[in-house]
Amino acid sequence: MITLGIETSCDETALALIESREVNGKTEYRVINSLVHSQAKLHSAYGGVYPNLAKREHAKNIVPLLHKLLIDSKDILENINQQKNKPTHKDLNEFMSTCSAINSGQNIELWQSLKDAKFLEQRPPIDRIAVTEGPGLEPALWVGIVFARFIGTMWDCPVIPVNHMEGHIIGSLLPSDKPYGVWQGLYEAKMPSIALLISGGHTELVLVKNHQNTHTNRNFSYTIIGQTRDDAVGEAFDKAARVMGLPYPGGPHISMLAEQARKENINSNVTLPRPMINSNDFDFSFSGLKTAVLYAVRDATKNNNSTLSDDFKKGLAREFEEAVGDVIQSKLSKVISEKHVQSIIVGGGVSANNYLRELLKQIADKNNLPLYLPSRHISGDNALMIAIVGSMKELHKGEIVADGTKRI
Ligand code: KG4
Ligand code: ZN
Repeated sequence: MITLGIETSCDETALALIESREVNGKTEYRVINSLVHSQAKLHSAYGGVYPNLAKREHAKNIVPLLHKLLIDSKDILENINQQKNKPTHKDLNEFMSTCSAINSGQNIELWQSLKDAKFLEQRPPIDRIAVTEGPGLEPALWVGIVFARFIGTMWDCPVIPVNHMEGHIIGSLLPSDKPYGVWQGLYEAKMPSIALLISGGHTELVLVKNHQNTHTNRNFSYTIIGQTRDDAVGEAFDKAARVMGLPYPGGPHISMLAEQARKENINSNVTLPRPMINSNDFDFSFSGLKTAVLYAVRDATKNNNSTLSDDFKKGLAREFEEAVGDVIQSKLSKVISEKHVQSIIVGGGVSANNYLRELLKQIADKNNLPLYLPSRHISGDNALMIAIVGSMKELHKGEIVADGTKRI
């Protein structure tokens, strides 16, 4: 079965094609292709993601990105196509004129990029389309959803809504060392597992259970047992970076400075708070940490002619990273001891952070638990994780299908 994944929840327009098959009762996947078009440079002028700009950029880029995906995957798709029935063809312009979501005027950029996309008339051998339905920025999400419904209806292909956070969890179970095109199963994480999701929009501890004890089926259940009460951890990285005069997204910049500080043995003379580190729950809070960075920078610039020395920035970045790490370590250790988890899954863009990856490995080793970290190409937002989750779902009665109606 071929699944097309579509992800537009934030500032990455992403598409992926995967193939899945059942072997001895287990599902295997192979990645045909995965493309990510980042808008981060455009948003950096605003110091964060500007939702309407994200919407316009997704609408401009998603059609050419699909064209590229299909061209790059041509040989594999042609091979598959020969084994399937010949597709039905529809006339693009005629079809567009009947599609109210495209004609409403609210999606003018999408309409414009669709109107010459004659390649869509050639139906590829795709069996289902998986699209991120949330959580995310609403205007950005809608581009992906409207586009998925459009091509889904045109190609008579079901559209499966996928939760972005589930994507980050399942994406981390895809073995990272295999090149595209190689068949592989997901790691069979022992359950219950604790998923730590750390991204620009979320900080969550999710208890994951598998009711069938195999990954062939869609019987994972998810319970959020802890989350941030204010800023997400990635958001705190980005805001702290902004205060320090670093570009958006700030996480990688803070991480780089902190690494330099460790190498050069630079410590901060400021101690940042570890918010909620000893609270009697699994929740987080990061806005106080960001505010403490703001005060530290304000005091330092007052004493130093409005400029921050490189050493000050490096030391503060290190202290910031360590404050985040201390809180994560404390909460995760509390979950491990209280919930008797059997494995740890980590997902979300912040999991690219080297210091946190090392720390998480230490926590896992200390507790003798397997740890599943996403490979770097899948730690940020991508459509591969969305395609995998979409391919795992049964087509239910009542599932939303291509034209937005329910399957009955
Ligand atoms: O999961 P993601 O790509 O998008 C969301 O769903 O939010 O996460 C993006 C976040 C940003 O806040 C970015 O600064 C952060 O991940 N990030 C990092 C690193 N790389 C990305 N934070 C800390 N260290 C990194 N190396
Ligand atoms: Zn994400």
